[in-house]
Amino acid sequence: MIVEARETETIGLQTAPSAPGRRQRVLSGMQPSGNVHLGNYLGAIRNWVAQQEIYDNVFCIVDLHALSLPTTRETLRANIRNLANVLLASGLDPERSVIFVQSDVPEHAELCWLLNSVTQFGELRRMTQFKDKAGSQVEGVSAALFVYPVLQAADILMYDADLVPVGDDQKQHIELTRDIAERFNARYGETFVLPTPDIKPAGARIMALDDPTKKMSKSATSPNTYVALRDDPDTIRRKIRRAVTDSGSEVTAGPDKPALTNLLTIYSLLSGETIAALEARYAGKGYGVFKADLGEVVVDAIGPIQRRLAELEADPDAASRALAAGAERARERARRKMALVRERMGLGFGRS
Ligand code: AMP
Ligand code: TRP
Repeated sequence: MIVEARETETIGLQTAPSAPGRRQRVLSGMQPSGNVHLGNYLGAIRNWVAQQEIYDNVFCIVDLHALSLPTTRETLRANIRNLANVLLASGLDPERSVIFVQSDVPEHAELCWLLNSVTQFGELRRMTQFKDKAGSQVEGVSAALFVYPVLQAADILMYDADLVPVGDDQKQHIELTRDIAERFNARYGETFVLPTPDIKPAGARIMALDDPTKKMSKSATSPNTYVALRDDPDTIRRKIRRAVTDSGSEVTAGPDKPALTNLLTIYSLLSGETIAALEARYAGKGYGVFKADLGEVVVDAIGPIQRRLAELEADPDAASRALAAGAERARERARRKMALVRERMGLGFGRS
């Protein structure tokens, strides 16, 4: 089989894209599945925006992934538009990055199926996100939830991504993607680039405001768990004021202070000050003063995003134009990649 695959390299299709000196490629995705929160912003979106200049970027609103848990047509529609506007308002620039909706590029679903054939049942069963989301209801969850990581691998491998900027919870999925790519390459010849997770040391795991042992999550039942990018200033201040704290009264970070560590991390990332500088500033001042200031820092950071969001929402065509153009560019790349993949695998009637 490997010999056959080698032969295909001469037929003029795109070959494994490992040319030295080319710009590093980035792909990341986010599900349109609820309120975008501060964890999403600090763990993912903010890094995507900051790195736009450096890399060749593709960002995907993964609506097919959102079908893995029950939803409705209206909810999905609203969430897709919502997320598109939030990403643009946060600073993703459709001139510099390819931004599109996953289902507008049908090749993702096709590649997922093909990669299913080189993915093992046991690998998927070990995914902690699957175990968390399925909980004790394994019998009743969709098969889509089970193969979810394979669709994610398809998103990444489709565009030869070198780097995948995500929060800490996605590390296992990127490692699986590497394993799938390696297995495919070994079986069919060099086809896919092995991606590396790009997980920042700070902000990759922002914890829930009401429980610092759990990560801040969109699917949380209580809205007091997270600050949503859409929360109005008073709601933000109130949520921060009510955030749980640790015993004691000193504003310091450390393993025995998970709640304060989380709040200090948020403060530090949004203000650009180090945690040590913040600890020094708030020494002896108590939690109340610290939280009041943090509330203002968050309001100030989110304010400009909310203003741009309001503008975008007043002009619904803006996002729609940007995403249509993004889908066009993504489709072009996906079409080329899939021609190679099908050829490598021996699918279809073939050309020779
Ligand atoms: P999700 O909310 O699961 O769709 O995640 C979208 C992106 O945000 C992924 O890159 C996640 O890793 C990241 N993310 C989600 N929750 C958090 C969190 N609490 N802290 C940091 N990053 C997060
Ligand atoms: N699984 C990711 C999450 O829950 C979303 C996602 C889908 C993704 N496809 C991706 C992230 C590709 C990075 C790259 O956040």
